[in-house]
This record gives sequence, C-alpha cells and structure tokens, in this order.
Amino acid sequence: MTRIRLHDLDFDLFIPEAEVNAAVDRLAGELRTKYNGKRPLFVGVLNGAFFFAAELMKRLDIECEITFVKVASYLGTSTTGRVTDLIGLNERIEGRHVVVLEDIVDTGNTVKHILDALADHHPASVSIATLLFKPDAYKQTIPIEHVAVRIPNAFVVGSGLDHDGLGRNLPGIYRIIEQQP
Ligand code: IMP
Repeated sequence: MTRIRLHDLDFDLFIPEAEVNAAVDRLAGELRTKYNGKRPLFVGVLNGAFFFAAELMKRLDIECEITFVKVASYLGTSTTGRVTDLIGLNERIEGRHVVVLEDIVDTGNTVKHILDALADHHPASVSIATLLFKPDAYKQTIPIEHVAVRIPNAFVVGSGLDHDGLGRNLPGIYRIIEQQP
C-alpha cells in the first residue's frame, strides 16, 4: 500500500490511476452520447477541476468548448442574501448546453450556488459532471447526473484535490488514514 504524508496528515492509496482513468473513459462515453451535436460548454470549477477537465477533454471527440471559473461567495445586502459570483465567466451562456465540471461533490452546497448563478444567464440546459461524489455527505436535491467515481464519506486528495494546497498533482486518489483511538 502506498502511503504519503501531506503537512500533518497521512494518506493511503485508495483508487489507483488506472481505475480513475477507466472511470473517466466511461464518463466521457456517457457525455459523448448525450451532447454530440449540441456543442456543449464545459465550465470547470477552479482550482480542483483542472485535472479532471484535462483528462475528460482528451477523451471527448465531439465539438465542444471549455472555460474555467473561480467561485466567490459573499454576503450581499439583506434583500440579495448570499451572493455567488462566477469569476472569469465571459462566454455567452444564454441558450447553451452547459456542463459544470467539479473535482468533488461533497455536501453539494458549492454546486447549488453555481447552478443558481448560472440560471441567471438562461442556459438551454445545465448538468453536473464530477470526478468524485460522496452520496452519504450530499445534502441537496439537485441530481448529480454524471459521476466518475462514488466514494464513502472520507477526506481524499489527488487528481486535483488538495489538503491545504498539497496533493493536487498526485495521480490516483488517496484517502486519509483516520487516527487510531
Ligand atoms: P461541497 O461540500 O460539495 O460544497 O464541497 C466543497 C468543496 O470542498 C469542494 O469543491 C472541494 O474543494 C472541497 N472538498 C470536499 N471534500 C473534499 C475532500 O475529500 N478532499 C478535498 N477537498 C474536498
């Protein structure tokens, strides 16, 4: 078992690179069938989705576009409540088929905010494609349509995911080793 240390935490290899690649292959096939001829706009959510986005794009031989956004969330006025800005989104969204690319969906709060912000731009459709999904942690009702790998509710790094800045560059997925009592 390959063990690594990032800052103060230890991780074990959980999903080898070959398995991640096979899951992305499968997902690319799913998206090809659904979006061929629709010229989808993929919107990768930085920082974590850069890795998944690149792996997915290599495998998608259909006409499509990709862009990246950063999510900024802050408290607005009492009437607007919490506001989510998609920084870097310069493309025209209206009438487009949009696929949001996430590294991981955990509670789902982030994708909920992103979908609310995208809805203001009147896309033809929006779906979510994620490298990892933690169904046991998910608290939203929006369907997560395109999932490469479902994982248990544990902290993981690698393939774009980090622990305090480290681990994004690791191929495969590493799972935290829980402290022994
Ligand atoms: P959410 O709970 O679905 O809103 O996820 C929020 C963000 O937390 C994700 O986009 C990730 O950046 C981060 N995150 C959630 N789970 C993990 C994990 O297991 N490892 C690393 N980052 C995570």
